[in-house]
Amino acid sequence: MKKEKSFYTKAVHVGRDLENHYGALNIPIYNSSVFAFTDVEQAAAIHSYKEEGYFYGRLGNPTQKALEKAVAELEEGEDAVALASGMAAISACVLTFLKAGDCIVAPFSMYSTTTLLFKELNRFGIKVKFIDSVDVESYSSAVCKDTKLFWIETPSNPLLRITDLSAVAEIANSKGIITVADNTFATSFNQKPLNFGVDLVVHSATKYLGGHSDLSAGLIVGKKEFIEDIRRKALRLYGGSIAPQVAWLVLRGIKTLALRMERHNYNASVIANMLSRHKKVRKVYYPGLTSHEGHNIAKKQMQGFGGMVSFDVGSFEAGKKLVNSLKLCILGTSLGGVETLIQHSASMTHGSLSEEERSKAGVTDGLIRLSVGIEDVNDIIADLEEAFSVC
Ligand SMILES: Cc1ncc(COP(=O)(O)O)c(C=O)c1O
Repeated sequence: MKKEKSFYTKAVHVGRDLENHYGALNIPIYNSSVFAFTDVEQAAAIHSYKEEGYFYGRLGNPTQKALEKAVAELEEGEDAVALASGMAAISACVLTFLKAGDCIVAPFSMYSTTTLLFKELNRFGIKVKFIDSVDVESYSSAVCKDTKLFWIETPSNPLLRITDLSAVAEIANSKGIITVADNTFATSFNQKPLNFGVDLVVHSATKYLGGHSDLSAGLIVGKKEFIEDIRRKALRLYGGSIAPQVAWLVLRGIKTLALRMERHNYNASVIANMLSRHKKVRKVYYPGLTSHEGHNIAKKQMQGFGGMVSFDVGSFEAGKKLVNSLKLCILGTSLGGVETLIQHSASMTHGSLSEEERSKAGVTDGLIRLSVGIEDVNDIIADLEEAFSVC
């Protein structure tokens, strides 16, 4: 019999614990912020982490634990910790491992709020060097004696830039630098950064893991010692905990993750190909296209190319007109849900960056980001074609 179960099977069954929950097929939502002890000895053992158990909501509960186990298994990591949002997960990573004087090396083009957070860390004496993450050597040449952490986001938001995971991890490992990869766009269905030597993976579970645009959550996966550190420092001290109700919703979303991602991958690749032939489109960014600068690396480290497609329609006005003319695709600032969402990056997610910063990040005035949903791809194409016809 085949030993390792397929991702499709795992996604359906991970997180289940029949034995400890009266055979409940779905883990119950533990609506309790307090867990009582049998005696003070047990209380002391659990408080000092000598015995496994729960004592206070901010520090975890069985529903959260089930989600953490599920995501660790799907990412093929030793352990995971769940938090209240993707940004809570990202800030937990940096605040656990960095101190004043330390330096992060990070892509100049990535999720804009991560960029803003890293700049904000300057206030606490943490330095950041922004580099071109497509050029692996730029990670290497940015290293100084204070470098503690390499940040990777691949595919990146919103330009789908691809970073060679194993090459960056190799540089980091040879210099004792921690690597963190934001795997939100790909998900563990399409890419498993830990298998390429990266130390930690973060997710905005608000996106594909939850999958239904109805929650905010974040996850960090990786080596047990790193996760323990995050749990005891960031989770305990800064308190960005996930609610048990939300942890349960993410677990429910995960059951269909494989099916949804298969469809996202398919629909996005059909649309990327259609856009690349469209006369009103200047450029298409999708790692599945052979014309994409990172296609060969993406092929090496991804099983599928994901549901995100960006494209440039040439000007601010054309971008605005296109998104305003759509009827099925929804204008909204998120991604990874079952429905197709579209945004005009220069006026939305990247609106808070200066023009210079936007241009450095490659966010042109006509850039459109499409989170391709799981609808019938012909309906999405028909909606886009109709909008193009009036632009
Ligand atoms: C790549 C990426 N990482 C992290 C985040 C932040 O996640 P959250 O909104 O759940 O805090 C986002 C949000 O869009 C994202 O796109």
